[in-house]
Parts: sequence; structure tokens; C-alpha cells
Amino acid sequence: MGVSPVSKESLEKIRQKLRKTGRLLALLCRIQKIIPISGIVLMVFGIISAAINKQVPSFITEVSQSSTFYKLVYHMASLSTLDPMYQAMIGCFSFILVLIVVLVYLNMFENMMNYLATGGQPFTLENAKKMRNRSWLALLLCFNNLSLGLLSFVLVILFSYLMEYGSYLQLQADETNRIQEEMIFSFAEITENKSGQTGKHIRRVSEYSKIIARQLGKDEEFCEKLRVASIMHDVGKLMIPSEILEKPGKLTDEEYGVIKTHTTWGGKLLDHVEGDEMRLARTVALEHHERYDGKGYPSGLSKEDISEAGRIVAVADVYDALTSRRSYKEKWDDRKAYDEIMKGRGTQFDPQVTDAFASAYEKIQEAQRKFADQA
Ligand SMILES: [Fe+2]
Ligand SMILES: [Fe+2]
Repeated sequence: MGVSPVSKESLEKIRQKLRKTGRLLALLCRIQKIIPISGIVLMVFGIISAAINKQVPSFITEVSQSSTFYKLVYHMASLSTLDPMYQAMIGCFSFILVLIVVLVYLNMFENMMNYLATGGQPFTLENAKKMRNRSWLALLLCFNNLSLGLLSFVLVILFSYLMEYGSYLQLQADETNRIQEEMIFSFAEITENKSGQTGKHIRRVSEYSKIIARQLGKDEEFCEKLRVASIMHDVGKLMIPSEILEKPGKLTDEEYGVIKTHTTWGGKLLDHVEGDEMRLARTVALEHHERYDGKGYPSGLSKEDISEAGRIVAVADVYDALTSRRSYKEKWDDRKAYDEIMKGRGTQFDPQVTDAFASAYEKIQEAQRKFADQA
């Protein structure tokens, strides 16, 4: 069995560190902006004071004469013969230009870091393009220092390509996830068809589970993982004989006992599959018929031992089972099914999950309409 080179825990730690570093760097950029802004203000005041007093302040002369542009023009156009005022203005112009470029880059970097700090993915094609489009600005630094300008230009171009590469890797990963999810759905649909449910039970249960998890304040990553994991909650039904699954009318105690084993079969089928979603899928398959009061199956787990994912899918699954037509029963009216869920608050179901279901009921009904069975 292959071992993932990066464990989920270490990936989460890296993400947390990235968020912290992003916050810190964004703050540094904000503070750093004071330097070019005050430099520009100082230069403008210096020029104004030179124009009024007819004398160039010494710091303007020093700054001007240190710029490459000044030196170039000085040698090529006999700048020395020009009025010191014009000399200073040429030097100042190149220096202010450099400070504006620094400001633009600091701003761009700060935006990226803020995005990173909120958990966003900075490696996007859009960001790479934005950076490349602005790379020529780095050449303006040559006015002040030729080597610095050229080096910055090359670094910005290189960084933009790295960013583009990162965005392609991200797109590839998204595509792989999408294909994986489609396969999971197809697999789960086989189970659904086998148990005589030709409808969209699994899609609705997975949507309801995500809505409830969101209402409980779970982070987006967990909600998305639960959405995928809950698709496979009944996967163990693949191992249950069709004559029992499709039997119209009431089941005998023995047959019901066989049906119940779909939970442990689900756990077994998903036992050796790797990945976070699959581990969560295994938990959900095993626990979606456990009850908050400990009277559920297959293990009669106590409320402390049932995972949050199991408790959420339990509510989503029962609500959808009640509002769907089955070979042995007609579908219930939505209101009656809602009341039934509320009746199970604190006994069959976790009170917090039931409350979240009630608060998000409008969204649940939206999903119910969106993924309704064809008549
Ligand atoms: Fe089930
Ligand atoms: Fe189900």
C-alpha cells in the first residue's frame, strides 16, 4: 500500500504557517510603504523649495547624482553645462520613478499576502498574468541602478512563471478530484440502483450533509470533504442480496438484520482505501445508523463515540429517506418529515445537528428541489 509523502496533518500545519507568514508579510509591506511615500514627498518638497529659494538642497543633489540615469545623461549630454536646477530635476525624476515602482510592487505583494493570509490560493493564472504584465515596471528601476533594475525584472518574470506553473498544478489537482468524485458518484449510483432507489438519494444526502455542516460553523474544507464522503454512506448495500433490498412490503426480523449489515460491509469495503475523504467515508458508512441515545446500529455507540460526520449524515439520511418513495412505503409530506426529525432531537439525533438542520431548512429544501427525483 502506498504511503502519501505529505500527511494531512503536516499539510494543515504548512497551511497555518502560510497564513501566519502571509499576515506578517502583508503587515510588513504596509509599513514598508512609508519609505517610498515619504521619499516621494521629500523629493517633491525639495524641488519646490529649490524653485522658491533658487538653490538646490544638498540631499537632492546627492540623491540625483547617485542615479544611473543622471550619470548617463551627465556623460552623454554634457549635463554639467546645464543649470543645477535642471540637473536636480532630472535626478529627482528618475528617483521618484523608482519609488513609484517600489510602491506598485509593494502594493501587489501586499494584496497577494492578504489573500494568502485568508487561506486563499495565490497560484492562479490571473495572478501570474498580472505579475507578468507589470514586469516591465521593474526595468524602470534601471533609471536608478542598472543591475538592480535588470535583476528585479528577471526575478519578477521568473516568479510569474513559477506562479503559472503552480496554477497549472492546482488545475490538474482539481481535475483529478473532479474525476475521482465522478467515479465515486457512479460507484454509489450502482449501489442506489441495486437497492431499488433509482432516484437521487445520495446526491441529496450529500448536499444536505454539507448544508448542515456549514450551519454548524464547520470550515469549508470539512464541509466539502463531508459532501464527498457522504456519497458513499450506503455503499455496503452492494453486499446485500437484491431480493432483500428490493423486497416490496415489510421485511422479516431476519431480513432487517441482514439489511443492517450494510453499515459494517461499508466499513469493510472502505477499510483499505487511502485519503482523508475515504477515511471520513468509512466513518460515515459505519456510523450513519448509530443513534444519539446509544440505541443505533451496528455498534450501539454512545453519543460521545459517534463522530460529528456520522451524526450529521444520520439526520440528512433519515430526512431524505422519509421524503422519498421506497418499494415498501410512499413518500412523506415535507412538513411531516421535518416534524419527525424534530421529534428525534436528543434521542435519535444530536440536538445541535437537529437545530442546525432546522435553521438551514430553507437551503435544504432548495437542494431537495434541485435534486428531485424525476416523476
Ligand atoms: Fe444506510
Ligand atoms: Fe441512505
